[in-house]
Amino acid sequence: MSDCPSAPLVIDRVSLEMSLASRWRTPRMRILDAVSLSLAPGEIVGLVGESGSGKTTLGLTLVGRHRPTHGSIQLGGSALAPGTPAQRRLQMVFQDPLASFNPRRRVGDAVRLALDVHRIGPPSARGDIVQALFAQVGLSSEHAARFPHALSGGQLQRVALARALATRPDYIVADEPVSKLDVSVRAQILNLVRRTNAETGVGLLFITHDLAAAQFLCHRIAVMYLGRIVELGTPDAVLGRPRHPYTARLVAGTAYDGSAGADPRLGAREACFYAPACTRRLPRCTQERPPLDETGLACFRPEELPPEPGREAIPALA
Ligand SMILES: Nc1ncnc2c1ncn2[C@@H]1O[C@H](COP(=O)(O)OP(=O)(O)OP(=O)(O)O)[C@@H](O)[C@H]1O
Ligand code: SF4
Ligand SMILES: [Mg+2]
Repeated sequence: MSDCPSAPLVIDRVSLEMSLASRWRTPRMRILDAVSLSLAPGEIVGLVGESGSGKTTLGLTLVGRHRPTHGSIQLGGSALAPGTPAQRRLQMVFQDPLASFNPRRRVGDAVRLALDVHRIGPPSARGDIVQALFAQVGLSSEHAARFPHALSGGQLQRVALARALATRPDYIVADEPVSKLDVSVRAQILNLVRRTNAETGVGLLFITHDLAAAQFLCHRIAVMYLGRIVELGTPDAVLGRPRHPYTARLVAGTAYDGSAGADPRLGAREACFYAPACTRRLPRCTQERPPLDETGLACFRPEELPPEPGREAIPALA
């Protein structure tokens, strides 16, 4: 946990535009479009949505790897921006455990480096802090002395969590932290994440394609579609009684190829991006953008949806 009292994380209408190629005058794509989301101290919010919807980009923006084109990110009232000291209060755990470590550095030294860079604790105490962090994630000093390739994927994700915790963050962005792991160790790592949240009070933005994992871990779930949040609520509400047609489709596991037709992220914003695929479309859906309302829905037809045919119950995790 942070030295300072934990503070809410407020993502306020964050947009991010990027050029699709380095050529002059290439179209700019709005990869994140006025994303607003607040995390309470200690809260775990799941971020789900199909591939390419912008989940990783939002995570990278939160930890200062991208500067928003519009909007702001605030932690306890202070604005976060790339390079600001407060950025250390947000850390990230990446999807690919092996790729996130320098192959020539012992993993204990990788965690120590995070302490050195951010000047956490007196230098003479940092060795003990590293040991305590390894113990916290269920590893020993013997593991700390190994190089990344000598650890399993699950062990490396434990080290990644220890490294993220080293700066005593208020929030961790965990980007699909178990998707590259063997099924047999996934539940162990999810349990560790949950225990760490309970013990340290660190909040999490948990990015996942695994709806069962989101249901197991998260206090709330946000559904992202083409850079916009279209639904937000408790796991029971969002996954059990989805109200947005896109969420219903996601929960049902019915694939939708959004690549048919022009990508709406390159064009007019004053429309619901889901309109081309929506069977409930109204005339106004192609002319106005539905805002995310106070009930957590961005849709002009707020009636509850009938059960999706073929929707299966989400299996419970151990
Ligand atoms: N550096 C970049 N330059 C240009 N476009 C990018 C860049 N990074 C991501 N994109 C585009 O932004 C969109 C969102 O990508 P992102 O990786 O955030 O999606 P995602 O939701 O994390 O997908 P996945 O579930 O596959 O991990 C995609 O269309 C991607 O091609
Ligand atoms: S706003 Fe309109 S097009 Fe968009 S999901 Fe709702 S009903 Fe469908
Ligand atoms: Mg991603």
